[in-house]
Amino acid sequence: MNTVTTSFLLFSIKISVFLLFVSFSTLAIDIEKLRALYDQPSEFWPPAEIDEGIHAKEIGLLEKISFPKENSFTEEKLRLGEQLFHDGRLSRSQQIACVSCHDSDLGWGDGRRTSFGHNLQKGKRNAPTIENVGYGKHFFWDGRAATLEQQALMPLQDPVEMNFTLPELEERLSQIPEYKKAFKAAFGDENITAKKIGQALATYQRTIVSRLSRFDLFLMATAKNVKSDEKKKNLKMSDQAILGMHLFRTKARCMNCHNGPTFSDQKLHNIGLTYYKRKYQDFGQYNVTKNPNDVGKFKTPSLRGVMNNKPWMHNGLFSNMRGLLNLYNGGVSRPKKDPNDPLSPVTSKLIKPLLLTKEEILALEEFLKAITAPPALGPSRKYIQLIDEN
Ligand code: HEC
Ligand code: HEC
Repeated sequence: MNTVTTSFLLFSIKISVFLLFVSFSTLAIDIEKLRALYDQPSEFWPPAEIDEGIHAKEIGLLEKISFPKENSFTEEKLRLGEQLFHDGRLSRSQQIACVSCHDSDLGWGDGRRTSFGHNLQKGKRNAPTIENVGYGKHFFWDGRAATLEQQALMPLQDPVEMNFTLPELEERLSQIPEYKKAFKAAFGDENITAKKIGQALATYQRTIVSRLSRFDLFLMATAKNVKSDEKKKNLKMSDQAILGMHLFRTKARCMNCHNGPTFSDQKLHNIGLTYYKRKYQDFGQYNVTKNPNDVGKFKTPSLRGVMNNKPWMHNGLFSNMRGLLNLYNGGVSRPKKDPNDPLSPVTSKLIKPLLLTKEEILALEEFLKAITAPPALGPSRKYIQLIDEN
């Protein structure tokens, strides 16, 4: 090798080391800048990138839960609901309780792809968490229940879940003296009806609220302006999680649907998981409304605690978060509408390829971890909003 080539080689090595250093330091500066931007109340955050016509509430701390007037909160109703939730006698076999499929140790889901119910029959859908259902506007993946009171009576009667009938249930519980007492305490008389069972179960479930996540602690520290305690704040949200939060609100487009304090717009969308004419075909909301525009639409799930609740999606087919995020990154699946087939599914316009880098995918995953606290241990009373009757 002659000297000219050697010195040229050395020169280019120097240049690349220099460039590498520059790119690393700009990255470092970007994160610092980003952290400074997010280190202030959310009204001063960089604006979220939301598509036209979409109304997205800012992500943030959970608010109090308002209980409906027809089923206001009482401690006695909560305790009765808790007892019912854990009681296998609510099923025909006396073996399956609500808690069998909504177990706090498993993020208030059941950790399975789809649930096993009566006689070990397998259902079609993944058991969602019941954390934060008190903020919900409709229930089940396809939104088919309008209230929690109504929802609670559906698994009881579902032949592949608890496989019971309401008259038989009323009859069975009326034989149990402790229940007579508990219904009297909660409702003023010991008459046991399905309606009251639904009300007590709903009251209990409304008190199951996520614990504070690192994201919440970060927001609380920011609100209190705890500038002196920078280190603590960094522990709460790593640089990667801050970047992930920024991407969630901007380039990754998540906030178009996963918005507000629960990270759900409470709407139903087709994100491309209809599996049309395939083994896992599920028409979602169409089964309820019979409107072809609703084919493959499912409720946007809350993402609080999402890392506790795998596998994911209505069919539980996703057990690897990075894989799930890569799927979003590629634009999921957007088949062409067949003009001659009204039932051929149409993916929401909000789903598009995202062009996220590998680092950005990792950052998004870090953010999902930061909004996941350990599962709620049981009722949390601090979110209960008591209605002032006067
Ligand atoms: C055999 C398992 C199983 C049992 C038992 C069971 N569930 Fe579920 N639960 C599920 C599955 C699966 C879904 C989702 C079904 C769907 O969306 O079609 C679900 C959905 C729900 C939802 C809706 C959550 C949301 O975000 O929309 C609530 C609330 C709920 N169950 C409460 C209960 C209550 C209360 C009981 C007892 C009366 C109960 N479940 C018993 C499996 C079960
Ligand atoms: C068009 C609205 C929309 C957008 C945009 C969107 N999601 Fe979703 N998301 C949904 C719906 C609807 C589901 C449930 C779909 C199903 O089960 O078929 C879902 C499910 C999920 C789940 C599974 C949760 C569970 O409990 O099973 C995760 C995780 C998730 N989304 C994360 C994200 C992230 C991260 C982004 C941004 C990259 C994003 N989503 C963008 C609507 C959306």
